[in-house]
Amino acid sequence: MPEAYSISAESIAQERKRVDGDLDRFDVSRVVKLDSLELPKLGDQDVHLKILAVSAEHNVDHAALADTTNIAEIRGGKIYPGNSALGEVLAVGAAVKTHEPGDIVVTHCNGEPDAYGYPLRIWAYDQPDSIGWYATEAVVGAWQVVQAPLDCGLNLWEIAALPLRAPTAHHLWRRAIGIYRVKVSREQRARIQVLSFGGGVSELFLMLAAHEGHRAIFCSGSASRRKHLEGLGIESIDQKQFNRFASRDDVKAFGKHVKGMTDGDGVQIVCDMLRGAVFPAGMAVLGRQGVNVSAGWQLGMKCDFNSANASVRQLTIDHTHFETLAGVATATELYGSAFQPTVHEEIYAFADLPRALEEMHRNVQTGIPIVRVADGMPDAVSHLIP
Ligand SMILES: NC(=O)c1ccc[n+]([C@@H]2O[C@H](COP(=O)([O-])OP(=O)(O)OC[C@H]3O[C@@H](n4cnc5c(N)ncnc54)[C@H](OP(=O)(O)O)[C@@H]3O)[C@@H](O)[C@H]2O)c1
Repeated sequence: MPEAYSISAESIAQERKRVDGDLDRFDVSRVVKLDSLELPKLGDQDVHLKILAVSAEHNVDHAALADTTNIAEIRGGKIYPGNSALGEVLAVGAAVKTHEPGDIVVTHCNGEPDAYGYPLRIWAYDQPDSIGWYATEAVVGAWQVVQAPLDCGLNLWEIAALPLRAPTAHHLWRRAIGIYRVKVSREQRARIQVLSFGGGVSELFLMLAAHEGHRAIFCSGSASRRKHLEGLGIESIDQKQFNRFASRDDVKAFGKHVKGMTDGDGVQIVCDMLRGAVFPAGMAVLGRQGVNVSAGWQLGMKCDFNSANASVRQLTIDHTHFETLAGVATATELYGSAFQPTVHEEIYAFADLPRALEEMHRNVQTGIPIVRVADGMPDAVSHLIP
């Protein structure tokens, strides 16, 4: 039986008890456990995958902490997490025309598109019966995988960093720029200023903005990430210089700093992803007609803002989720040209996946964390391993 990691409601409860409910002491690696699972039978529309590499994703952190919802409990006591993977197709169902054995593919986590293609649920999270890809093998519908762009110029770990974060960033960017363009046309202002706070999705968001010729600014606490982005022409601000916005004075000082960088103009688009203390800082630096967009709530789910003030400044706050299937395909086209992700310096072994998640939780990594799942890699990708 293939090996697969699981998160159980029981192990969450045990860890919560051990730390006496103090999430600052919570150890995610004690909750994500190596397990095994029986693969579903290969259906006519399915593909059988050997998982080559996965990225550690922040929704798994939320699942292990049970800090937004206790998804393991809601799903009957256990989930098999992992919704970003790179795999080799081992076999295809009788009706599959899009893929064949030997293909190298990336997964996407739109678990169930609504009438417009937007996800109602996320694969390996709240989609019922969905089994994730932190596993040595998987069987999924062929619609759930996209051909990996092996000749895009990225190495294998960089490609593995993108299946979830790049489509998320792509959706955020097209929504943010689309909303801004409803208010200010390209003829009125072609080049805008875009700011984003730390994290994998955020850095990819800025890469899209910069790729389209806009001024991009990364406000992050990570020196290594800032350096990588500076190499791509993205300016940076050390978020720790403003104490991660712990007080109103820090937010004010940050506002002054950004106004100084932008000749008093402020920025036109902010990507937040974190909310909490970051939200007021992002709102403070928006210029007139600005757009604040987010698909995350890592530091807080409730936002407080002054509606009158936002009206007068003509600000828009938008909330997105993972991409449509068409958007996933478009985002994949941009691997290597727009998207050049920062990868954490250690490539984790499969046995170390829980540690990768715990280190992501503690925010001590230098880039997007990648786990090598397969020891033996297919010839098609061996030249892409650095
Ligand atoms: N709805 C969706 O479809 C969707 C998709 C993807 C992600 N998300 C969510 O969006 C959030 C971010 O995802 P991600 O993949 O970008 O995560 P990530 O790559 O793990 O980045 C998270 C970042 O948060 C920053 N951070 C950590 N503690 C902080 C603090 N106390 N104050 C300010 N910043 C802090 C760190 O940036 P620095 O240290 O560099 O400042 C860190 O790199 C997560 O909650 C995730 O679940 C949602």
